[in-house]
Parts: sequence; structure tokens; C-alpha cells
Amino acid sequence: MHTLTTPDEMRAWSGRQRDAGLTIGFVPTMGALHTGHLALAADAARRSDRVVVSIFVNPLQFNESADFDSYPRPIDADVESCRQAGVAAVYAPTAAAMYPPGFQTRVVPGLLADVMEGAMRPGHFEGVVTVVAKLFGAVRPDVAIFGQKDFQQLAIIRQMAADLDLGIDIVGHPIVRDADGLAQSSRNLRLNETQRARAIVVPHSLDAATTAANRGAAPSEIVAAARSVVEAEPLARHEYTTIFDAQTLQEITDDDEHAVGPLRIATAVWFGDVRLIDNCELRTHGV
Ligand code: PAJ
Repeated sequence: MHTLTTPDEMRAWSGRQRDAGLTIGFVPTMGALHTGHLALAADAARRSDRVVVSIFVNPLQFNESADFDSYPRPIDADVESCRQAGVAAVYAPTAAAMYPPGFQTRVVPGLLADVMEGAMRPGHFEGVVTVVAKLFGAVRPDVAIFGQKDFQQLAIIRQMAADLDLGIDIVGHPIVRDADGLAQSSRNLRLNETQRARAIVVPHSLDAATTAANRGAAPSEIVAAARSVVEAEPLARHEYTTIFDAQTLQEITDDDEHAVGPLRIATAVWFGDVRLIDNCELRTHGV
């Protein structure tokens, strides 16, 4: 397995694969790899000849420096996980290589970034699409895999790839969960034992929403059903729960009787200073 640390090295490696007639599948990450990330790498392996995993904790997309500083960085274990997963190359650039003095260009996402995570975390998606555009430029993949765990991020990147004619196939991968239903996340490592146990209210709240949707409840009732599960847990602090159109990401309210496309529900919940997000598909009747 190759480990590459600068954009030039990465691009040269990638060029050699392409010259040999091989396709490249790419999984961008911020490290602290878990089986969710590795499922994306396995998906990439099924769709390409050589898999590249990037590991870069991107300062541009963090709203708070404390969150950036405390983000887990087990780089040796991550490299070993990639080796065992059959990854061909790990791209782990330094912040200095990514953002040298004089760096000034940003990619600005559109409307899709105004809601949910974008509304709560100003500038977050600009940081995400800017770094992903740079990673795409260095890796030059044929296909890139993103998790539905970050459903809004996936939609925004798909839109960027289309809008900027990048010619990269953007694939969404289903959410990988722990046995008790909690979506895997690098931030779960920062939960203490009690918080981790109670964090199952997050997927349970989505289950409650699904149950309400299946009995034909209105969007406001579905959201209320989900919220009440989180609000019954004293260690949890509810941030938002929204039902939205999976294509446009626009919120669906009780007035949207015409909504026909696939709907999803997304939520953000705090445990102490750890922010967890989750979402799932929602099939509503009569909405
Ligand atoms: P990170 O949070 O490390 O996630 C990397 C990729 O793994 C993302 O596509 C994310 O959606 C996916 N992922 C994380 N947990 C998952 C789970 N439980 N099931 C399925 N997929 C999961 O997302 C980022 O990093 C960054 O924003 C990045 C795109 C790398 C840009 O910096």
C-alpha cells in the first residue's frame, strides 16, 4: 500500500494507474476509521480497480476550533485498517500541503447548503466542497463514494460534480450502524460510556418517526413523535428534526400535500459537547 502526502505525489501516483488502464475509486475521510468508512472502501473496490482513501481533518469545515482540536486522529491505526482492507493508496496530506500561505480560492455551494446542517453550521459546506474539490483534483478518481449518514453532504457534492463538469461518478452508500442501531461515527469515540448507551435514542427517534409515518401521521406529528423520544432522555439535547424532500432537501410541512418524491427525516442531537446526526428514508401516506 502506498502512502502519499502531497497533491503532486498523489496526482503522479494516480496518473500511473490511469496509464496502466486502471480505474480509481475514492473514499474521502477525516480518519478515525470505523466499519462505516471501510464499507465505503469495499463499495469502491467493487466499482474500480484501485481504491484510494484520503485521511485529512479539514480545518476549513469546522465551526469551532475546540471540535477541530479534539477530533480523533489515530493515524497509525487508520493506515493499518486501510492496509487490511486492501486499499491501494492512502492520501494523508498535511494542512500545510493543502492550505499553503496564499491559498485563497473557495468553492461556494448553492441552495442545497442553506438548510439543516448548513443552517446550523455557517460556512461548513463551503469548507467541505472546497476540500473535496481539492481532493478530487489530486486523486482524479473515476468514482467517489460518500455515506448517506451525511445525506446533505452527499447531495451537495453530487450537485458540485454535475455543476462543475467533474466527470466523477458520485455514489451514495447506506448508513452503517452499530448492533444497537446507533449510526457509526468518528465522534462516537468522544461519548462516555453512559452517553454512548443513551445515544440509542437518536435511531429510536427515527424509528418512532417511521412508525408514525406508516400510520399516516402528518409531518408535524411525525416530527413531534421523533422529538419526544429524544426529549425524554435527560442527557440528550435536541437540536433539530426535519422532514425533507430527498431531491431538493426542502422541508416538508403539513401544507405540502403535493409532495410526491421520496422523503427523508434528519435529526441532530447533542450529548455533552458531542453532536450526533442521523437520518432515514420515510415513506409517508397522503403527504
Ligand atoms: P467523515 O466524517 O470521516 O466521513 C467520511 C465518509 O464516510 C463520508 O462520506 C461519510 O458520510 C461516511 N460515513 C461516516 N459514517 C458513516 C456510516 N455510519 N455509514 C455510512 N457512511 C458513513 O464526511 C467527511 O468525513 C468529510 O466531510 C469529508 C467528505 C471527508 C470532507 O472533509
